[in-house]
Amino acid sequence: MEQKKSSNVVWHESIITQQDREKLFGHRGLALWFTGLSGSGKSTVAHEVENRLHGLGCHTYVLDGDNVRHGLNADLGFSAEDRQENIRRLAELVKLFVNAGVIVLSAFISPYRADRERARNLLPEGDFFEVYCRCGIATCEERDPKGLYKKARAGEIADFTGISAPYEEPDMPEIIIDTDSDSVDVCADTIIAHLKAQGVLS
Ligand code: ADX
Repeated sequence: MEQKKSSNVVWHESIITQQDREKLFGHRGLALWFTGLSGSGKSTVAHEVENRLHGLGCHTYVLDGDNVRHGLNADLGFSAEDRQENIRRLAELVKLFVNAGVIVLSAFISPYRADRERARNLLPEGDFFEVYCRCGIATCEERDPKGLYKKARAGEIADFTGISAPYEEPDMPEIIIDTDSDSVDVCADTIIAHLKAQGVLS
């Protein structure tokens, strides 16, 4: 992980707070942190939940692991160190979105428990909802939407999550969706119902 190289930098407080922005938007800013294997449906469900939240008048944004690796994190690969740095930067990004009063839905494999815990600890208590997209590797591999499992099995991709790199299941996620057996609609229903039950959405 990068050491802090900048010195003589002073934090500047803003006049407008997260609470001010939330009041204007009419809902809280929060993070729905999707985690799960490649092909487990993180992005698909995140986009469906965003679609529904948008329909309810919420300010939303989806951050997709593949997309951010095209730009912001284009310098990172898939070693344990690079994934840690990937998640560290993205957690900071998520924090900015939440501070902006937005409901941010992030879809990163985020295979390491410790990295997800660091992300959680960056946010105020109650603003972080870990959403575990539970799906057996056999199903992910069968779907193989990007043809990556096939390549990984053929030895063409190193450190592939679930095959040659670990995935650590969440211990106590706020929400579990069973993406191998339940439809996208049912998974989105589960998440929206949870947010309503928590009083986050009216
Ligand atoms: S993470 O492990 O650092 O959280 P991230 O979500 O950013 O991963 O990126 C995962 C995506 O990168 C996968 O959905 C897949 O499309 C692609 N990918 C390319 N190589 C690998 C690899 N070795 N392991 C996992 N995903 C990979």
